[in-house]
Amino acid sequence: MRRFLGDLRPLPVLNGSCPREKRLNRSARQLSDRLAATIAGARLTPTLLPLAPSLRLWLLSADFPRGPLPPDVAARVVAEPAYWAFCWGSGHALAHWLLEHPETVRGRTVLDFGSGSGVAGIAAALAGAEAVHACDIDADALLATRANAELNEVDIQCWRDLAKVPTADLVLLADVLYDRANVPLLDTLQERFPEILLADSRLQPEMLPDWETFAVIEAETIPDLDESPIHRWTRFYRPRGQATGSPPAALLA
Ligand SMILES: C[S@@+](CC[C@H](N)C(=O)[O-])C[C@H]1O[C@@H](n2cnc3c(N)ncnc32)[C@H](O)[C@@H]1O
Repeated sequence: MRRFLGDLRPLPVLNGSCPREKRLNRSARQLSDRLAATIAGARLTPTLLPLAPSLRLWLLSADFPRGPLPPDVAARVVAEPAYWAFCWGSGHALAHWLLEHPETVRGRTVLDFGSGSGVAGIAAALAGAEAVHACDIDADALLATRANAELNEVDIQCWRDLAKVPTADLVLLADVLYDRANVPLLDTLQERFPEILLADSRLQPEMLPDWETFAVIEAETIPDLDESPIHRWTRFYRPRGQATGSPPAALLA
């Protein structure tokens, strides 16, 4: 499933004069400074998500420097990867799915774990979640989540320490298990939270025998990283026996 829709809302400018724009600009400027500390000359731009066009994010502009980076820049990128400057394919797909299935989050408290840009939490808020928390180990990701929540005019509480996150009805994870060392986090999350939805384009289903696939969506990372086509397909997983998530796996072709 792939859709490209436009949205004619005016995008914010970086030198606006109304109070909300000033707040937004401050967050965005802080983010730009953080990005510049890693890659000089890289720019952030408010970007519409093709599969979730009611949502826009401060993301790395599509003209970002490609090709071999100078060794010092490459070392900084590896040491402090700005994952938050991209909307990863799984987050993109999950935002689309949540907006198509608002009943999943409506009136509920949701945690976006490994929030990055905050895309999943923002989509949950736009779909009618009563409260949204975001958790990420990267302080810059939480800054990005705050800036993007402002951009979309939704409230998100940000947490760096999972242990401090208040209770939530549902946890969303998108593209967090790229680091296989994170897979055991699923057990930790299941001990604390009643329901989990996992969106991932890199895991093989065999790695999660206690989880079932309930949807598969094609979505690209934005800006496009020219990834292998197999990473364009995001699988949606839920623990076996959990009702949340539709359609039921049995209905999938
Ligand atoms: C590839 S990004 C995905 C971001 C976003 N969910 C999306 O789909 O665009 C993975 C994010 O998970 C965060 N992360 C990785 N390990 C984590 C952990 N143990 N606890 C919390 N966040 C973590 C990273 O800092 C990063 O922001």
